[in-house]
Amino acid sequence: MDPFVYKKGVLYCEDVSLAKIAKKVGTPFYCYSSAHLKNRFNAYKTGFGPRKHLICFAVKANSNLAVLSCLGNLGAGADIVSGGELYRALKAGIPANRIVYSGVGKTKEEMAYALKNSIAMFNIESMEELQQLSKVAKKLGQRAPIAFRVNPDVDPKTHPYISTGLKKNKFGLSREQALEAYALALKDPHLSIKGIDCHIGSQIVELDPFIDAFKRLKELVVQIEKMGISLSFIDIGGGLGISYKDENPPAPQTYISAITDEAKDLPQTIIVEPGRSICGNAGVLVTKILYVKENDAKRFYIVDAGMNDLGRPSLYDAYHEIKPVQQTVAPSYKETDVVGPICETGDFLARSRPMPDLASGSLLAVLSAGAYGFTMSSNYNSRPRVPEVMVYGNRFHVVRRRQTWQDLVAGESIPKGESC
Ligand code: LLP
Repeated sequence: MDPFVYKKGVLYCEDVSLAKIAKKVGTPFYCYSSAHLKNRFNAYKTGFGPRKHLICFAVKANSNLAVLSCLGNLGAGADIVSGGELYRALKAGIPANRIVYSGVGKTKEEMAYALKNSIAMFNIESMEELQQLSKVAKKLGQRAPIAFRVNPDVDPKTHPYISTGLKKNKFGLSREQALEAYALALKDPHLSIKGIDCHIGSQIVELDPFIDAFKRLKELVVQIEKMGISLSFIDIGGGLGISYKDENPPAPQTYISAITDEAKDLPQTIIVEPGRSICGNAGVLVTKILYVKENDAKRFYIVDAGMNDLGRPSLYDAYHEIKPVQQTVAPSYKETDVVGPICETGDFLARSRPMPDLASGSLLAVLSAGAYGFTMSSNYNSRPRVPEVMVYGNRFHVVRRRQTWQDLVAGESIPKGESC
């Protein structure tokens, strides 16, 4: 169920009016529905049924502590890609034994931090990384739990920037390399082989690529076990898409039942690393029209949120639906560019979009902004990061305050005794 619906002409998040939140916190702000997070997480859980599994939420999609804690309480683990994400996951109360560490460029400091905290597994992406981890583990007198990320070479049929499972992408090891890697790791006293991993891309709206990838993993599992290695985990990564406009992705239950069907003869715990499909449609970015401007060619709504707050439209030409917070009566639509205050032509939230006539001061909600929205935001143009608000039924809380101008310069200094 969509948590963002009009009630008496005003857009609500669950039982709280977005206009009311705007009054309290100002604009722009991100707003998340805890009920939606819960529904989506539980949809994954239902798909698994009695099967042993671990749902590791991809922290990169939304790393707010309140979001992580909400999911952690429901039983989620975390898929992390940096020491910072590990810090957040632990701080939010997610147990270390539910945390998997992905990413091609883990540093030795990050490895040591994760080892000291006894995370469940490192997903290794190169031989050099393996050697580095082994050295760090030796120094700490530990055995590092590992899986190899295999690049299954399947086409996820998604945006090229977020497709990761093809040979030409930088991710994972080929099947041949992986087999060699398992043989090497087996002999290393500082490594403990736990599983196999893959992740083929993001915003995937068809089942086939997932099934193809899983079948390829299964073949490898057989070969690996023939080497005398027993695996506890099969990690299938994240990537399930959501509907931004008219996409019709499978529901998490459907996707997971298809995988568990394929896995029925396998004893391993299945790990999944969903990000977007849990939090994408749980969030909106609320922004205010500062100025309306029109020329012969176009109408512009200049709003107070920019590409630094939500980068997806500029980066991927991504479509995010935009709705007025105050519903318009009998609207007439006109092609409009919804643009931010940043000094770049690429600073837009929507282009040539039929929008109703609205006056400056009106609030807009940019939908499907709960994943890769705030986490990809920046301070470009020295714009403070916007607050994040979480709704729980008829209550809301500011779960990250708006940055101040002082925050912007915190940590900077002008060297004494130097002049230019
Ligand atoms: N696991 C790994 C190893 C990943 O690299 C990713 C995402 C995920 C899980 C979660 O994927 P999801 O379930 O969210 O699709 N910034 C882009 C998306 C980049 C995704 C990167 N990796 C966007 O805004 O569309």
